[in-house]
Amino acid sequence: MTTLLEARELRKSFPALARTRGRVTAVDGVSLDLAAGETLAIVGESGSGKTTLARMLLRLIEPDSGELRVDGRDFLAARGAALRALRREMQMVFQDPFASLDPRMRIAAIISEPLEIHEPQLARAQRRERVSEALRAVGMGEDALTRYPHEFSGGQRQRIGIARALVLRPRLVVADEPVSALDVSVGAQILELLQNLQRDFSLTYLLISHSLPVVAQLATRIAVMQGGRIVETGTAAQILGAPTHPYTQSLIAAIPVLPIAS
Ligand SMILES: Nc1ncnc2c1ncn2[C@@H]1O[C@H](COP(=O)(O)OP(=O)(O)OP(=O)(O)O)[C@@H](O)[C@H]1O
Ligand SMILES: [Mg+2]
Repeated sequence: MTTLLEARELRKSFPALARTRGRVTAVDGVSLDLAAGETLAIVGESGSGKTTLARMLLRLIEPDSGELRVDGRDFLAARGAALRALRREMQMVFQDPFASLDPRMRIAAIISEPLEIHEPQLARAQRRERVSEALRAVGMGEDALTRYPHEFSGGQRQRIGIARALVLRPRLVVADEPVSALDVSVGAQILELLQNLQRDFSLTYLLISHSLPVVAQLATRIAVMQGGRIVETGTAAQILGAPTHPYTQSLIAAIPVLPIAS
């Protein structure tokens, strides 16, 4: 398998909030490899550093130290056009489908905005075709194009967010808690959609969640984060079936067992 992304000893700290001195170490020396086509899940409790790590991997924020390579090339050294080209290959799907779509924009404009930024040379007709294609890929019809975000349910909005991420035909999609704002059944449909899209478009996923049951369905590998560090990493079967770190064991013990009607 080819390695798409390699992170070595990434670190990031922030000034501590409110009247306290010092800094909070959000990510404390994380190394990971992401192979093309896999789904790596990052699991851990709130505040463990998952989002900070993801934002550094996409270079939305700069690490304090560490190394980052994409296709074996130094991503942290990339500037200008090279940086933009790499960035368009990595897109993010956000947690909150209500906050992440601009309420004043029609769906057509929301999905075509990344194209206007990254592929300004596209003719209008081509752009429209790409937008329709992305919308179809997430199971929505053309009638959505002229409507506004508030006219859609949470699940539909998350589909629109995914269409916006897909319109640039990325290789890597980072989904940060993509279903935690949704009802369980709607969330399950979104996870199934992500699975189908991965197959259809050969996507690599980094899936972030505080919930092991959510990632169990999609992940090929799982990295467990606690206090800014990865404390355990393995195949999904290893982590779910034979966790070795006490923190992972506690996450698994916390999964409620559904009563089965007899
Ligand atoms: N911009 C920031 N300024 C100050 N502190 C921050 C900032 N971003 C993150 N932190 C702190 O870094 C730590 C890790 O936060 P992060 O958002 O990465 O965790 P998380 O695992 O994504 O949590 P959640 O599951 O709640 O989304 C927390 O202590 C948080 O308060
Ligand atoms: Mg987060």
